[in-house]
Amino acid sequence: MIKYSTMMFISHVYLWCMFPVYIDGYYADEPGFNLLFTTNTDEIQDQPIFFNKPLPPWLRGSLVRNGLGRFEYSKRSFTHSFDAYGKLCSWKFPGNGTAFFTTKFLKSKFYIDSSNTNDIAPYTIFGAVVPEFSELQKFVALSRGVDNMNVNILRFYNESNGKFDYVTVSDIWKIYVVDPLSLTTKRSVTANIPKGHQYTGSVKLYTTLSTAHPLPEPGTKYHITYVSEVSLIPGLKNKMILVKIKSAEEREAIAEWEVDRVSYMHSFSVTSNYAVFFAIPYFISISKMIWYMDTFEGLEWFSDRPTLVYVVDLRNGEIETLKTENMFFLHHVNAFEIGTSKLIVDIATYHSPEFLKVFEMTTLMDPVKRNKFDAHAHLKRYHIDLNANQILVQSFTPPKHIPFATYIDMVTINEHYRFRNNCFVYGAVLNKDNIKFSQIALIKKDLCGRNRDAYWYLPAHYPTESWFVPSPSSSIEDDGILITPILDGQKKMSYLAILDAKTMNLTHKAYLPTTIPLSFHGRFFEDLY
Ligand SMILES: *[C@@H]1O[C@H](CO)[C@@H](O)[C@H](O)[C@H]1NC(C)=O
Ligand SMILES: *[C@@H]1O[C@H](CO)[C@@H](O)[C@H](O)[C@H]1NC(C)=O
Ligand SMILES: *[C@@H]1O[C@H](CO)[C@@H](O)[C@H](O)[C@H]1NC(C)=O
Ligand SMILES: [Fe+2]
Repeated sequence: MIKYSTMMFISHVYLWCMFPVYIDGYYADEPGFNLLFTTNTDEIQDQPIFFNKPLPPWLRGSLVRNGLGRFEYSKRSFTHSFDAYGKLCSWKFPGNGTAFFTTKFLKSKFYIDSSNTNDIAPYTIFGAVVPEFSELQKFVALSRGVDNMNVNILRFYNESNGKFDYVTVSDIWKIYVVDPLSLTTKRSVTANIPKGHQYTGSVKLYTTLSTAHPLPEPGTKYHITYVSEVSLIPGLKNKMILVKIKSAEEREAIAEWEVDRVSYMHSFSVTSNYAVFFAIPYFISISKMIWYMDTFEGLEWFSDRPTLVYVVDLRNGEIETLKTENMFFLHHVNAFEIGTSKLIVDIATYHSPEFLKVFEMTTLMDPVKRNKFDAHAHLKRYHIDLNANQILVQSFTPPKHIPFATYIDMVTINEHYRFRNNCFVYGAVLNKDNIKFSQIALIKKDLCGRNRDAYWYLPAHYPTESWFVPSPSSSIEDDGILITPILDGQKKMSYLAILDAKTMNLTHKAYLPTTIPLSFHGRFFEDLY
């Protein structure tokens, strides 16, 4: 008996010393979380997948998503997860009850050069690599610019032939055109910047910052985006240009204005008549970029400065500049007009860009470090009064039964309600109970204050952005389904989940033949199958 417990004690101490992290329980209820940030080189074409229940008979089209696939090449690794090589996924629903899964890497120049040299090729990235690049490689990286469009996928209409080009995007001007059915990469496009295109020198990225979230132009099949030009010439002002996307290759300027500093803005808003930019005090510093040769180090945050808000009239290009609180954000939710002089803009805000640091690999892979992070977004409503040149900030209160409902990001809406007064925003919440970063819940937030909030959560299941597909017969905003890939950390497999958007109950699931690392954004194309 005594012998036995001594043995137990000794083996416990021995195990604890060998694998402290496993035994103290940090990983015990977060199995498989690291697979979101682990390379998966599988490429798959049209593999049938099977749901536990017959699919809604009206469901037809394809969900196509962009995200991360590979976190190192041979002996060199990315230090920031956002730099991982882009990988696309699609789920086809032909409308006869079947479904097919495809996944492929974006065959960017970055990817191909890396594959040819069996090393991470020097291109501009967000963080750094380990082992570090040489000074010469850093210079080459800076001069080539960003080439890894791993954030979002959408399609641009071409009026001349009535066709769509499916494009992958990140926060810069360059894009890749892909085939949406096979997910093969077709070509890169760096469109001419409309209006006064100034000399940009060799530092390509920083002079042409754009957004991974272009928005549809109200009333047309086109999109709207922006590009900012950082001047490298003393005396020449920085510029922002509001741009209409007329096809994958063609751009047209809607408005152009000068700014003192260029802000990093991951998204913006459009209403029926206006485009709205929240120019947060998170500025590009060319000198810091060149000094550190690192994008993250080259962005300067000012916690004591307000946010400048540019409201651009889409009809005549006139610009009104307003001010609001200091904050950081990644995603606007939606915006709409009230009468002729009031705009409402909803944004998932953060206290500061510090949030981006939780996505550094050493933090993500360390439960103690990642759990310490404040990973909560704060949903805010900005009431813009154009006549009074004034902005009121409103916070939302969560319902008692879902205290984390307002910590929402990776936001989507019923797209039929874009530019309109929508009641529902769908999204994900990290660290829902303020204990573990990996506790990721899917949220439905009722913006109209009628307590129709709901959520879905399962321990060790890791969802991402969910896309709302409206049921075809209905005119009720939340009558439809949400589709999202979820990583099942116990099984170490991903599955495609369908949730009833009314209740947020998971109704259908189909396991995939592989795992899907962190998937950022995507959308459902109802005529693509
Ligand atoms: C459903 O449609 C797909 C695509 O057209 C086809 O490949 C498949 O054979 C069809 N399956 C059934 C059961 O009809
Ligand atoms: C748009 O369509 C026209 C006419 O077919 C074609 O010449 C042009 O190349 C297309 N643009 C793109 C970007 O595919
Ligand atoms: C949805 O989920 C809730 C809570 O888990 C449950 O009470 C309800 O019965 C479910 N509804 C349906 C239709 O399954
Ligand atoms: Fe985004």
